[in-house]
Amino acid sequence: MVAIDGPAGAGKSTVARQVASALGYTLVDTGSLYRACALVAERAGVAMDDRAGVEAVVAAAVVAGTLRLEAGSAGLTRVVVHGEDPAEALRTPAMSMGASAVAAFPGVREALLDAQRAFGSSGGVVLEGRDIGTVVFPRAELKVFLTASAEERARRRCGELRAKGIDADYAVTLAEVLQRDHQDASREIAPLREALDAVRVDSSAMRPSAVVAAIVALARARGAV
Ligand code: DC
Repeated sequence: MVAIDGPAGAGKSTVARQVASALGYTLVDTGSLYRACALVAERAGVAMDDRAGVEAVVAAAVVAGTLRLEAGSAGLTRVVVHGEDPAEALRTPAMSMGASAVAAFPGVREALLDAQRAFGSSGGVVLEGRDIGTVVFPRAELKVFLTASAEERARRRCGELRAKGIDADYAVTLAEVLQRDHQDASREIAPLREALDAVRVDSSAMRPSAVVAAIVALARARGAV
């Protein structure tokens, strides 16, 4: 089991996908679950700062199976909301901020724990998130804390948004990165922090391929075939 945690924009998604593919493992992108919670709240007309309201609609959606994680094609997993894969609707800046806000609510984190553990417990998985090595799978064989400077992360995020045709301003994006860092690191439940036994990788000046190679080598050194 490989846990890859770290702040927004450190390159986790790209790296985790390629590590999973190189090892023949299943990838679980846990951030998409939190984004799906924000989407469920938005569709229910519940404000993102209404803790009780968000916790109630999310718990109900998980119990009813209208928000769930499924095995997808080619070793990927996907989040399903009301029978649909909302992929693009989850990736907007509004859903990034919404996900970060609702991820601070204990009832939301609790509701998503089983779904994450069900996918990871049999091994052969790469889980990507914020608290995988600290809370979800504290016994993961390999924990990587992938990070990069806030400026580099904002530059990357701008590039990704622009590539999708979304108008992105560097200063606004940097402010959002810093705000999300603060929200994710300062919440009381499962804050973003490095596990004591994690390997720290700073990707600021590294190509994704070099980061992938380093993590795959670490995984192989710990028994992955
Ligand atoms: O990785 P991402 O940007 O898609 O994550 C969206 C938000 O979800 C992020 O701001 C923090 C939250 N998150 C979390 O609290 N715990 C996780 N394991 C994954 C994401």
